[in-house]
Amino acid sequence: MANIKCIGILTSGGDAPGMNAAIRAVTRAAIYSGIEVKGIMRGYRGLISDEIVPFKSNSVSNIIQQGGTVLKTARCKEFQTPEGRKVAHEALVREGIDALVVIGGDGSLTGARIFAQEYDFPVVGLPGTIDNDLMGTDLTIGYDTALNTIMEAVDKIRDTASSHERLFFIEVMGRECGFLALNGAIASGAEAAIIPEMSFQQDQLGDLISNGFRKSKNSSLVLVTEGDITGGAMAQAERVKNEFPQYDVRVTILGHVQRGGSPTANDRILASRMGAAAVDALLDDQRNVMIGIQNDNIVYVPFSKAIKKNKPFQEDLMRTLKILSI
Ligand code: F6P
Repeated sequence: MANIKCIGILTSGGDAPGMNAAIRAVTRAAIYSGIEVKGIMRGYRGLISDEIVPFKSNSVSNIIQQGGTVLKTARCKEFQTPEGRKVAHEALVREGIDALVVIGGDGSLTGARIFAQEYDFPVVGLPGTIDNDLMGTDLTIGYDTALNTIMEAVDKIRDTASSHERLFFIEVMGRECGFLALNGAIASGAEAAIIPEMSFQQDQLGDLISNGFRKSKNSSLVLVTEGDITGGAMAQAERVKNEFPQYDVRVTILGHVQRGGSPTANDRILASRMGAAAVDALLDDQRNVMIGIQNDNIVYVPFSKAIKKNKPFQEDLMRTLKILSI
């Protein structure tokens, strides 16, 4: 068993619903094992500027149901430099923190990996991002809540779309990953999803059009992943307006509403399991790993694997969407 006396926790990058449940779980599991906990405010930035506060069991009371992160978050350019990481390391030593739990997405875990290697420092990551774009885990903390938010928003858009017999392109987040668009489309009964994973192989909008898009329907909803790869919802709408001026087209960009809100039961449970597992992993002398979940089992995923790009999406889901939208 590793001799860890004090764990520091931070949240970094885009906030995700369930981060608070994860902070609570790490804090309580550590205290349960006799380990002191310190909360690092504003991600890596707070580490560099030494914004570190002691965390007790009641520091994390009444937060499991809250969206966002009580530790605040930031995207920190300074931590990307060796000088910034040196200052961060000095702060950890000064505070007596001998292990770190980092809750965040791809960029945050990349920073964690570099830091852990540079200073031979025990770091365990938790996948906290609505994008579900980390490898080696079926789910990330926040994804389920964001998906439910999308579903509820699209349900509302459907009411107005069908009343006016309009075609809506609805842009969702996800960076270079189409999980939110594809599963959001299935959950809300949308007609199609245009996702980055398929943008290179196929003209997805062109295929929709040539397959008789809108032949049997008066209104349609198409979910589109944000970003340059798909071109986003605006670009799709422009193309349809040019090619089919008779269609009444509208665009909704859901934006940051997708990142907020009280976490779903699934996200709270996932975050709680992963948070407790992070402490177990540190005690088990694991380092430089992300906690993942595969087939409902907790797994340790080396950072190098977790942050690899191009997480495969389930192609059968695209087929299901196509079949169900006839
Ligand atoms: O990674 C989470 C995420 O919400 C992405 O889906 C999105 O592209 C990005 O963060 C937005 O970041 P910001 O809040 O910095 O604009």
